[in-house]
Amino acid sequence: MTQDELKVMVAKAALDYIPKQGVLGVGSGSTVVKFIEQIGLNEIKVEGAVSSSNKTTALLRERGINVLDPNSVPGYDVYIDGADEVDPHFNMIKGGGACLTREKILTSMAKKFVLIVDKSKLVDTLGKFPLPVEVIPMAREQVIRTLKKLTGGDPVLREGCITDNGCEIVDVRGLSITDPVKLEDEINAIPGVVTVGLFARRGADVILYATEEGVKTLKRPQ
Ligand code: A5P
Repeated sequence: MTQDELKVMVAKAALDYIPKQGVLGVGSGSTVVKFIEQIGLNEIKVEGAVSSSNKTTALLRERGINVLDPNSVPGYDVYIDGADEVDPHFNMIKGGGACLTREKILTSMAKKFVLIVDKSKLVDTLGKFPLPVEVIPMAREQVIRTLKKLTGGDPVLREGCITDNGCEIVDVRGLSITDPVKLEDEINAIPGVVTVGLFARRGADVILYATEEGVKTLKRPQ
């Protein structure tokens, strides 16, 4: 089974989590693209959505889904998104697609975060995937110096990448993240950092992961 087929499988499984009424939060990335395709193919009704990227917004609108300004939404029930890595404590690295800031905003507004991944995203310790950090362009070099000292990793500007917010991405390579909450707080506190792609303070609530044997579900203990 290819990774693409696994993504379709988990995208289909996520349809069951779409609330019958109210707003749906929609993430970004190739797995989410499959999810949006499945919404269309299965003619699932979505009353309204909040979107984490311009690309997701365009795809939702193509399917006739009303995309709302998050400012007009006081909160909502379910956010569905992928990740680059997820650990056994439901902490994640996200931002491979450079949409981490809007993803984190929508995550913070949702009652439930349903993560959709294929099994290759499950890791014991976060950090093999380079950790994305969105930065204000004028602060980039200072942030890179600070990240080097703070993490001991190798921060590198993602060439040619400008986010939907007009910012840049620095990817920190060579990490082994043993305390994701602490690192999330420390990186977020660096002047010029918009958002770090560590989702630990607010991790996933449900993980749907696709395997050759079918989609498995993990629920965060309450
Ligand atoms: C987008 O910025 C990311 O956070 C994505 O959620 C993440 O990169 C997963 O993407 P794929 O579904 O393409 O692997």
